[in-house]
Amino acid sequence: MSEKIYYPNPDFAKDARINSMDQYHALMEEAKSDYEGFWKRYADEKINWYAPYSKVLDESDAPFYKWFTEGKLNVSNQCIDRHLKTRGDQTAILFEGDRGDVEHITYNNLSQRVNRLANLLKEKFGIKKGDRVVLYMPMIPEAAYAMLACARIGAIHSIVFGGFSAEALKDRIVDAEAKLVITADGAYRKGKPYLLKPVVDEALKEGVESVEAVLVVQRNQEEIHWEAGRDHNYNELIGNYSDECEAEMMDSEDPLFLLYTSGSTGKPKGVQHSTAGYILWAQMTMEWVFDLREGDVYWCTADIGWITGHTYIVYGPLAAGTTTVMFEGVVTYPDAGRAWQMVQDHKITQFYTAPTAIRLLHKMGEDEPKKYDLSRIRVLGTVGEPIDPPAWKWYYEVVGNGKASIVDTWWQTETGGHMISPLPGATPIKPGCATFPLPGIMAEVIEQDGTPTPVGEKGFLCITKPWPSMIRTIWGDPERFKKSYFGDCKKEGKPVYFSGDGAMIDEDGYITITGRTDDVINVSGHRIGTAEIESAIKKIDKIAVSAVVGKPHDIKGEGIFAYIVLKDPDHAGEEMIAEINSVLKKEIGAIALCDEVVFVPDVPKTRSGKIMRRILRSIAKGEAITQDTSTLEDPTIVPTIEGIVKG
Ligand code: WT7
Repeated sequence: MSEKIYYPNPDFAKDARINSMDQYHALMEEAKSDYEGFWKRYADEKINWYAPYSKVLDESDAPFYKWFTEGKLNVSNQCIDRHLKTRGDQTAILFEGDRGDVEHITYNNLSQRVNRLANLLKEKFGIKKGDRVVLYMPMIPEAAYAMLACARIGAIHSIVFGGFSAEALKDRIVDAEAKLVITADGAYRKGKPYLLKPVVDEALKEGVESVEAVLVVQRNQEEIHWEAGRDHNYNELIGNYSDECEAEMMDSEDPLFLLYTSGSTGKPKGVQHSTAGYILWAQMTMEWVFDLREGDVYWCTADIGWITGHTYIVYGPLAAGTTTVMFEGVVTYPDAGRAWQMVQDHKITQFYTAPTAIRLLHKMGEDEPKKYDLSRIRVLGTVGEPIDPPAWKWYYEVVGNGKASIVDTWWQTETGGHMISPLPGATPIKPGCATFPLPGIMAEVIEQDGTPTPVGEKGFLCITKPWPSMIRTIWGDPERFKKSYFGDCKKEGKPVYFSGDGAMIDEDGYITITGRTDDVINVSGHRIGTAEIESAIKKIDKIAVSAVVGKPHDIKGEGIFAYIVLKDPDHAGEEMIAEINSVLKKEIGAIALCDEVVFVPDVPKTRSGKIMRRILRSIAKGEAITQDTSTLEDPTIVPTIEGIVKG
C-alpha cells in the first residue's frame, strides 16, 4: 500500500501517556506473558476497592467469564466521591443547552445531586439493589445524575435512546421488567421545544405490569399529561432529600446496566455489563486513547442512549476525573459553525464524534473550522463506522490543523470500551484504518477454526481472550448470548468472542474493519437489524414479503433499502411508501426510515426458501451479480429486479 503514513506530532507525543510504539509493544508483551498480572496491576492502581478481589479472572464457567471476583466497589464512588478531596470544585459536567445556556456542574455539585436523587429513588419508590430502572431522557445533566444514582444504590439502569418509538420503548421496558421509568417533559432541539413524556405515556398504556412509577424532570415546562398516582415531579421532590447517601457495596460482577442493541433476529438484545471490569476499562481507555491530562476539557457528541454516551460521556470521563461536555442540541444547528464555536468557547482539548457527523460538517462548511480557534485540540476521535479517507483527511487537516492526532476507535456495545484504536502519541496512522488492538486486548483476524486469515484477505474479527469490560450475558437469555457471540469461531478448539464484523490485516499488522458480516446495518453509526425492520413492515397486511438491505449513503454511511413484494401489485406507489415509513416510525423510530423502497414481483430465494440478501445488496449498489444464481428457486427474478432498480 502506498497510502501516506501519518506520525504523531512530536511536540504532543513527548508528553503523551504512551509515547512510542516501543512502549506499546512492551505493554502488549506484558499482557501476553502474564495476562492476569497485567490486569491486576491496573485494577489495583485504578480502582477504589472497598474490599479486595480474590481472583482476577475466573474462566470456570466460560463463556460466562468473571473478573475480580468477590471484590467490592461502587461505580458512583469511583466517578465522584474519590475525587472530592482533590477536585471538588473542578467542573465535572459542562452542560450546554440547545439554546446556548451553559452550566458548570462541579464534582461537589454532582455529588450532592446524585445523592439526593439516589435517596429519592430509595425512599420514595423503594428502588433496591438489582431493580431495573429505564431512562428515557434527553441530553441533560439529570440523565447523568440518574445513571449515577442508580449505580449508587445498585439499581440496574437501562437507557432507551430518545429517538425510539413508544413500541420500541415498551418492548425494552417489558423485557427488563423495569420498576421505574425516569424521563423528562421534553427538551430543546434546533431552537424549539419537543416532547418525550407522551411517548412514555403511550408505551405504558397497556401490557406493562412491572412499572410502578414515572419520575419526570421538567426541562422545558411544556404542557404534559400527569397520571395521578403514577407520575412524579422530580423538580418538586428533589429538594426534600438529603445530599448524603451511602454508596451500596457492589460486587465486581453485579450488573451495572443493560443496554439494548440490535442483532440478527427481530428482538433486541439486552447487553448486560458488569461493575468492576466495565469501569476499569472505561477509565483506562479514557486515559490512554484520549491521552487525558489535568485541565483537559473533553467533548463527545454522542447521545447517552448509545454505548458511546455511557462509556465516553459519563462513566469513563468521570472515573478519570476530567471535565466532560454534555450537549443537548445538534452540532449543525443553528449553522455549520456550532460545533467549532463550542470547541473554541469551552477550550476543548479532545473532540469525539462519528464519521456521519464529520461528513455532514465537512459538506456544510469546508473552511468553517478555520474561522475558529481550535488550537487546543490534541486528539480527535471517531467511532461507529469506518471513516472514509476523504473525511479522515478533512478532519485531520482542517479541524486538527495537521497537529492533532486522530483516533479511529473500533468497539461495540458489547465490548464496553475501545478495543482497536491508535494511541495518539504513539501509533503511525494509515487513514481509514483502526490500526492495532489496545494493550491487553487480544483482537485477531481469523478463520472460523482459529487459523490466522492471510494478509489482505477478509476474515472474522474476534477477541480471543476475555477482557474486563466485555458483555456478561444477554438479559434473560444466556443461551442467545452463547450462540450470538461464542457460536461461530474457535481458537485451539475453544469458542472465542466473534464481533460480527469482518476485518483485514495488512503486511504491517494494521487492522481495517470491513463491516458487518451479519444482517445488521449501520445507519449513521447506529446498529439496526434488518430482521427488526422486516418484522415491523410485516405488520402491513398488504405486503407479502419484504427484504431489507443496507446501501452505501454519502452522509449516513449506510441507508436502508427495502424490496417489497405486494399481495396486490396495484397497491404500489407513494402512498404505500408513506405507509411503510409510518409503520417503521411507530414500531422503531425515525432512525429506521427507508431511504429507498422498490416494489418487486418476488425476491431471490434458495430452494429452501432463504432470501439471498447478498444478491439484493449487490443489486441495490448497482454492482454486477457475480454470485452463482443457478441454485435459486427462480433465477430469472434477478434480471427482473435489476431492471426495476435501474428504472
Ligand atoms: C458496530 C458496533 C462503538 C460505539 C458505537 C457503535 C461498527 C464501530 C467502528 C470503527 C469501523 C466501526 C462495527 C461494530 N463500528 N466503530 N471505528 N470502524 N466500524 O456501537 O451500535 O454497538 O455498533 O459499529 O460494525 O460492530 P454499536
